[in-house]
Amino acid sequence: MIIPMAEPPVSIRDMHHDDLTMVSDIERRSYEFPWSHGVFRDCLLAGYQCLALIREDRVAGYAILSVAAGEAHILNLCVDPGFRARGYGERLLDELLYRARSAIVREIFLEVRPTNETALKLYRKKGFHQIAARPAYYQADEGREDAAVLAKKLVVES
Ligand SMILES: CC(C)(COP(=O)(O)OP(=O)(O)OC[C@H]1O[C@@H](n2cnc3c(N)ncnc32)[C@H](O)[C@@H]1OP(=O)(O)O)[C@@H](O)C(=O)NCCC(=O)NCCS
Repeated sequence: MIIPMAEPPVSIRDMHHDDLTMVSDIERRSYEFPWSHGVFRDCLLAGYQCLALIREDRVAGYAILSVAAGEAHILNLCVDPGFRARGYGERLLDELLYRARSAIVREIFLEVRPTNETALKLYRKKGFHQIAARPAYYQADEGREDAAVLAKKLVVES
């Protein structure tokens, strides 16, 4: 009988500048049109909520949220391809939602490629729904691709 190995525990903390090499490496392996190292550095400098999911002392996923005027925007959410389908993306998203509520955010938005069925399934599972489309929002192999704009209203404790 084969006994499956237990998964090591993971934790989520704020992203540091020292994480950016690992973050950029995951980004390059995850997206056809990845963000550069400099974009992540700018997110940290801008004071966005930048999270890192840590597994065995290494970054295994990350998420970035901007918050302004009672609204929040998920700018990136990504899990290392080698560690997907273990619940990490959902944990990162739950932490973003928790942080948004803590910042008294009433509605949270994101853009996603309509062809990204995995991400769409995750966002719908967490209560997001499509409210609009942004034409020609993303770079694509040929020309541009539309974005689906998703939103979720948050109940803020008063
Ligand atoms: C989208 C992404 C973050 C999901 O992370 P993950 O850790 O693999 O997802 P989880 O294991 O937490 O799964 C959570 C939910 O996502 C959906 N999901 C995850 N993997 C899926 C797959 N292969 N097919 C369909 N749905 C999937 C399911 O709804 C799942 O919930 P369930 O297991 O109860 O059905 C990950 O696929 C990723 O990093 N993709 C590349 C970057 C990206 O596209 N980010 C989104 C940009 S908007």
